[in-house]
Amino acid sequence: MKTQINGITIAYSDRGTGLPIVFLHAFPLNRTMWAQQEEALSLQFRVITIDLRGHGESDAPLWRYTLEQSVDDVNALLDHLAIQQALFVGLSMGGYILFAFYRKYAARVKGLILADTRAQADTAEGKDGRFQIAQTAYKKGPSAIADIMMPKLLSPATIQTRTALVQQVRAMIEGNQISGIAGDLMAMAERLDSIPFLSQITCPTQIIVGELDQATPPSDAKLMADQIPNARLVIISNAAHLTNLEQPEAFNQIVAAFASNLAKKSIADRQPLYAETRHSQVKAEENEDPKPVFLKVEVMDRLG
Ligand code: MLT
Repeated sequence: MKTQINGITIAYSDRGTGLPIVFLHAFPLNRTMWAQQEEALSLQFRVITIDLRGHGESDAPLWRYTLEQSVDDVNALLDHLAIQQALFVGLSMGGYILFAFYRKYAARVKGLILADTRAQADTAEGKDGRFQIAQTAYKKGPSAIADIMMPKLLSPATIQTRTALVQQVRAMIEGNQISGIAGDLMAMAERLDSIPFLSQITCPTQIIVGELDQATPPSDAKLMADQIPNARLVIISNAAHLTNLEQPEAFNQIVAAFASNLAKKSIADRQPLYAETRHSQVKAEENEDPKPVFLKVEVMDRLG
C-alpha cells in the first residue's frame, strides 16, 4: 500500500488485527526484511511494516535527510492508519529512529524492541566513514555498497552457506537509489547521542542482539539494557547484525512473548479493580530481578 505523507509517497504493509506492532528496517534495506515476522506475527497481532523515506517503494527525494523526518513520517502514517499507540520494533537504523521517535512522541509508544542497535552517536571517524561510503555510492552505485555492507550484516557462516538469504539481502541493497543511500548516511551521521536519554525511557523495553554482531555488538546492547529502567536483553546465538533474518524463529518468539505481555498489561490497565494487585506483582518481579536478564536463545538454523 502507498500513501502521501509529508509531501512524498510512503509505502507500507498493514496485516492482521490486535495490538499494532510497527517495524522499522535497517540501513540500507527495506520493509521486506520483515517478511518472516509479518507472516508469523500477523496471525496474532496487527503488523505494520514501512519503507522509510529513501527506501524500497517509498520516494527517495534528492535533498537533505534527517532521522526526525522519518520520525514525522512514521507519526503521520500512524494518524493515517488511525493507530493511537503501538509496540515499535527497530533494527539498527530503525532503532536510531526509535530513540528520536520516543523523544518526540513518547505517548504513542506502548513498548519498544531495540534490535541490533546502539544509543551512542557516531564518532568523528564514524562520520568520516559515512561520507566515504556516500562517495562510493555516488561513484560506483548500490552494488558497491552491497559489497561493503554484506560482511557487516550477516555472519561468515551465513554468507558461506545460505545463498538465498545472501541474495535476498543483496537485492534489497541494490534496489536502493543513490539519493536514499546518501541521505540515510547523512541522517545517521547527524544523529544525537541517546545515552543521556536512556534513563528517561519508561515504557517496557526489550533489547535483542546477535552474539556475532560486530556492527552493534552485544556490549552496546548491554549498555542500553543497563541504563533503560527495567529493560530486558536477549542475545541470539549464531546470528550477526540481521538477527531477524538469520534466526527468524528465535526473533519471532521474543517479539511474540513481549507483545503478548504488553497486550495483557493493556487489558489489566483497563480494569482498575485489579490494578493494585497487578502493580504489586510487577513490583515483586522487579525486586526479585532488578538487573537485565542475559538469556541465550539457542536455535537450529532451519534455513541453511
Ligand atoms: C544498519 O544496519 O542500519 C546500519 O548498520 C546502521 C549503521 O550504519 O550505523
